[in-house]
This record gives sequence, C-alpha cells and structure tokens, in this order.
Amino acid sequence: MQVAGKVAFVEGAGGGMGLAIAQALLARGAHVATADIKPASAEMTAADGMHLHLQGDLTDDSFVAAGIRSWTDRHGRLDYLVNTTGVLWFGRDKSCAEMDMEVWDRVMAINLKSFVLTIRHAVPAMQRAGGGAMVHFSSIDALRGDDRPQDAYGASKAAVIRLSKSVAIQFARQNIRSNVILPGPVHTPMQARWDEDAAAIDRLAQFVPLGRIGKVEDMVSACLFLLSDEASFITGTELVVDGGLTARP
Ligand SMILES: NC(=O)c1ccc[n+]([C@@H]2O[C@H](COP(=O)([O-])OP(=O)(O)OC[C@H]3O[C@@H](n4cnc5c(N)ncnc54)[C@H](O)[C@@H]3O)[C@@H](O)[C@H]2O)c1
Repeated sequence: MQVAGKVAFVEGAGGGMGLAIAQALLARGAHVATADIKPASAEMTAADGMHLHLQGDLTDDSFVAAGIRSWTDRHGRLDYLVNTTGVLWFGRDKSCAEMDMEVWDRVMAINLKSFVLTIRHAVPAMQRAGGGAMVHFSSIDALRGDDRPQDAYGASKAAVIRLSKSVAIQFARQNIRSNVILPGPVHTPMQARWDEDAAAIDRLAQFVPLGRIGKVEDMVSACLFLLSDEASFITGTELVVDGGLTARP
C-alpha cells in the first residue's frame, strides 16, 4: 500500500489506534499531522518536517480550522483524513432514560461533532488536491443494542456511519472517498480497565471466533488499505474488524 509522499491528518492520535496509524503512515513516508487534547506521544518519532502535533480540543471549530489550515498551507494539499477521536465513559454514559444530558452532549461533541468539523475543513484541501480519502472510526457497538447501555457512545457511533455515507456521495465526483472502520474490542488506553485484568481479556477472547481481542495493528492495516489507492473503488461503506464477533449468533 503506497502512501509515501501523501499528506495526512490523524485526529485523536494521542494514543491507541490514532497514534499507531500516524506512526505507520510516517514509517511509510507520508507527511503526518496529528491532533489530540493530549500532548504528542513520546513514542512518536519522525524525520524533521514530516510530523506536526497540534494539541487542543477537536470539538472547537477554531482549533480544527486553524490546525488543518496550517498543515495544508505548508503542503498545499491534503490527501488523507483519519478520525479516531473518541471517548467511552463507563459509569457516566448509560441509559438515555437516566443519564446526565451534559454527558450526552459532550460525548456527542467528541465522538461526532469533532468528525464533522474535521471533514468540513478537510474537504476544501482535498478538492484542491484533486481528491482524497477519509477513514472514520465507529464501533461494532453501533450495530446493536446493549443490556448494559452506553447510549451516547452507541448513538454517536451509529451516526458516524450515516455521516460518512452522505459525505461519500456528496464528494465522490471530486474523487474524495469516505469509509468507516468498526473495530471490535482492542486493548488501548480507552480500555484501560483491562490493564490489570488479563482474565477479563481472556473471557472476552473466548467469545471472539478468531480467539483473541483486536490489536492496534489490525486497525492500522485496515485503515491503510482504505486510505490507499488499492481501495480506489471503495467509498461509502463500512469495514468490520472484529475477529468475527458480530458474525456469530
Ligand atoms: N478500543 C476499543 O476497544 C474500541 C472499540 C471500538 C471502537 N473504538 C473506537 O476507535 C477509536 C480509537 O479508539 P482508541 O481505543 O484508540 O481510544 P483512545 O482513548 O486510545 O484514543 C482516543 C483519543 O481521543 C482523544 N480525545 C478525546 N477527546 C478529545 C477531544 N475533545 N479533543 C481531542 N482529542 C480528544 C484522546 O485523548 C485519545 O488520545 C475511537 O473512536 C473509539 O471509540 C475503540
């Protein structure tokens, strides 16, 4: 998958999947800007000029606009946008019948509005480049209900799928593709509850037909494929990367 020389923006790259995707793009010769509310990861290493980290709140339109403008002005184009920003707030995000609506609004802002903002500001730069590719991270949680509900998370992740399809149709004639990855469980900072609980991971792995939970590398390879020209006829769709979890009865 050839990504050398491409100009990318990876949102939510302070850790987890976003960081791994940014590192993989850099290792293959892409120019990569990362953005996160956290500072740049110490694990992020890149040749001079290949990487820029922007620290700030991706629900803030002025931060997103200025960040994408500064990176695209430097390169004159944008080829790839990757949206991985997200929060899963155990305990606070629960049934819509009982949750604090301020929590609802904040989850929607982080998990959905931040994607809208990055898309809004990325599209003009991709149009100038003659096309581009976007990958947005949803979740298998978007596909079904839950008897232990996290309704803001699930609803925001379902909305990402619909948003991406609409973006795909609107900008297809300008050669801008938009696709979604639906990960199954992956041990990242979002799932820090498993850090001291290997037994919980083992129990979960038994439910996964392929017998393990996901690795960030599984998400990296799916994302690089969807960004790359190998996926040039793929837009407006979803790729489930869950080891078969949602396929089982
Ligand atoms: N880990 C899993 O099991 C899993 C499963 C399904 C879907 N996902 C989804 O995949 C994506 C990546 O998840 P991850 O596991 O790498 O999570 P993560 O927590 O490691 O990464 C998410 C990043 O978003 C950043 N962020 C949160 N709020 C922000 C804000 N307001 N402004 C800027 N940055 C902000 C965080 O600082 C963090 O670095 C998320 O959208 C998540 O919902 C994860």
